[in-house]
Amino acid sequence: MNQLIDHNFTGSRIIHGDTFEVLKSLPDALFSGVITDPPYASGAADQNGKAKPTSAKYSSVKSANPLPDFEGDSKDQRSWTHWMTEWLLEARRCSKPGAPICMFIDWRQLPSMTDALQWAGWIWRGILVWDKTNSRPQRGRFRQQAEFIVWGSNGHMPLDRNAPILPGVFRQTMPAFSKRIHQTEKPLEVMRDIVKIVERGADGADCAGSLDATSTAPSIILDPFAGAGTTVLAALLEGYSSIGIELSKHYADAATARIETALSGTADSDSDMGVTDAGETDAA
Ligand SMILES: C[S@@+](CC[C@H](N)C(=O)[O-])C[C@H]1O[C@@H](n2cnc3c(N)ncnc32)[C@H](O)[C@@H]1O
Repeated sequence: MNQLIDHNFTGSRIIHGDTFEVLKSLPDALFSGVITDPPYASGAADQNGKAKPTSAKYSSVKSANPLPDFEGDSKDQRSWTHWMTEWLLEARRCSKPGAPICMFIDWRQLPSMTDALQWAGWIWRGILVWDKTNSRPQRGRFRQQAEFIVWGSNGHMPLDRNAPILPGVFRQTMPAFSKRIHQTEKPLEVMRDIVKIVERGADGADCAGSLDATSTAPSIILDPFAGAGTTVLAALLEGYSSIGIELSKHYADAATARIETALSGTADSDSDMGVTDAGETDAA
């Protein structure tokens, strides 16, 4: 039993720590799916640009709603691909056979991401498109209007899984700057659709939309790069259990507060939500 999570892993939980270290402490085949948005280490054409703080790289956010920089976004191409492969290997060990994986990425890092996925032993199954609907216009160029979601599975993925038919294109604007908690926060609506690729419990129970059902739903989703906790919140709203891992203390706390707010209206105050620091035993 690991030192990071106290009891049965169900519920909605943000762990403050380095995903690689946290994953090493988790048991085999715990997760029914991995849904995540890693640091892209992109946003610039050269290494000097990549090394800038995230607020400078993702410049559109800085004046409207200054938010703290986030971690892990300045690696060069080789280091990023190597690092991706390392945590993807560990995430695969922690995933059930057939578990799906979905990872956001931009056009620059797309080829490296599909390499890393396959080097780590996942089967690459396709690319989804997130059409953000607007972007900076540049004369004589195509708009960079889309981001992508690379998806795959941990080995064979039967067609009769307990999951619905899902779209391949998601059309949704980014969260408004004024409401954003994280510099690169993903839209909750899109995340609510994407988590549905994760198979529900073997008993076939469909607990979508029921916050109460999270305590009994056996499907646990992993987001190793939780940011403001959008995946964990989407999982909660769709009736899954979920664990998010976040290295930045600021964002781990923000994500925890966000999930607690969602839970407070519908669950008991002693819900099994908790923020846990890597290296410490959760006292909850
Ligand atoms: C692109 S953001 C995720 C944003 C998230 N999807 C949301 O909607 O808020 C990636 C996050 O991964 C975190 N991160 C970077 N390296 C990490 C690591 N080694 N372990 C855990 N989290 C890490 C960053 O601090 C950042 O908040």
